Amino acid sequence: MKTEVAIIGGGPSGLLLSQLLNRAGVETVILERSTREHVLSRIRAGILEFGAVRMLREAGVADRLDREAIPHDGCFLTDEDLMVRIDFKKLTGQHVTVYGQTEVTQDLYKAQDVMGTTILHEVSDVTIHDLDQATSHVDFTHEGERKRLDCLFVAGCDGFHGVSRKTIPEGKRREHERVYPFGWLGLLSETPPCNDELIYANSPRGFALASMRNENLSRYYVQVPLTDKVEAWSDDAFWAELKRRLPFETAERMVTGPSMEKSIAPLRSFVAEPMRWGNLFLVGDAAHIVPPTGAKGLNLAASDVHYLHAALIDAVKSGDRSGIDTYSERALMRVWKAMRFSWQMTMMLHRFEGEDSFAAQMRKATLQHLSQSETARRELAENYIGLPY
Ligand code: FAD
Ligand code: DHB
Repeated sequence: MKTEVAIIGGGPSGLLLSQLLNRAGVETVILERSTREHVLSRIRAGILEFGAVRMLREAGVADRLDREAIPHDGCFLTDEDLMVRIDFKKLTGQHVTVYGQTEVTQDLYKAQDVMGTTILHEVSDVTIHDLDQATSHVDFTHEGERKRLDCLFVAGCDGFHGVSRKTIPEGKRREHERVYPFGWLGLLSETPPCNDELIYANSPRGFALASMRNENLSRYYVQVPLTDKVEAWSDDAFWAELKRRLPFETAERMVTGPSMEKSIAPLRSFVAEPMRWGNLFLVGDAAHIVPPTGAKGLNLAASDVHYLHAALIDAVKSGDRSGIDTYSERALMRVWKAMRFSWQMTMMLHRFEGEDSFAAQMRKATLQHLSQSETARRELAENYIGLPY
């Protein structure tokens, strides 16, 4: 098999990159480890920056999003005593969009099917070769046979546990990491959201988030110790804990119901540099992970794709390599700013086991400051709606 850009991973970054390249006449083949059903069943991100929405429109996959997604002009940050609204619209002129990653991925698969792109599912043992040569190749097993895909470039869109990043020699790769001593237990339920806008809550019992997918689909999270097992959390226990962490009036009006999905995700900040090695380019979670507190993971994947798709089109179509030569540097500049924001939001809203009273006072003072300073709120809003690219 032969193509221009081999894409490893059929998650949101791989699919969006492929769609944008195909529309510009660049050929791709996607190699995905899981089944399509499995990729579509993963409940993950829910908030899109305006830049990510613009990218989806540019890719021609935003018709359903434009009909069904919910624009949000603000969100709330709370603690025991305070409820601070961050008015994105007033402070930045922009909003964010509530539209699930599952929906984004579904729209992208549909568009790629129309495009006729080859997407191979259930591939295994992917290995990447000749990255320092004029052309490269990817070997993999599919339907019981070892196969070879020749290509000009390889896009590593295979998430944090993929093979692409590990293909960059250890001595050539720098990794920066912060692991947080807690996770998020998430629950999806067919109930109306408890509030019109998201609530990020800091409480003495730990963090909670009230989010949503639509007017009858709610997504909630509570901070839990990493040692907790999802099986040990009954729906009743989840709802009770969530209510203790949210403002009293919100908890009072909350509609509860059976969970459709429940899972625990650990929190981590991680960046691998550089994001390019010869003909290989890392995209999205393959290169970086943010703690979910700032809703940046999927949005960073979209901004990486923004830089990379234009660079690859120039390289394939006109032999202009200036874009691919500066991809890593440009993508990382934005990645680090989102890292900072996600880390800051995480520190501001979570309780750390064994922390002293000083840490809790710092969180309180940060929220107090936000409630009193429009400048502080604008800084948060500017980052939340997404820095420009
Ligand atoms: P992935 O989605 O991980 O996709 C990688 C794909 O590669 C997968 O389909 C995988 O099966 C495949 N793959 C892996 N290894 C191989 C291999 N060896 N060969 C072939 N294929 C392989 N982000 C936000 O922006 N906003 C949010 O609100 C938000 N909330 C989140 C909430 C939770 C609970 C979690 C867990 C994440 C959240 N994120 C959020 C982060 C977001 O989901 C990720 O950043 C996003 O999925 C990254 O997309 P990706 O395509 O780079 O990686
Ligand atoms: C969701 C997840 C997040 O990490 C976040 O910051 C906001 C919303 C969600 O899944 O809806």
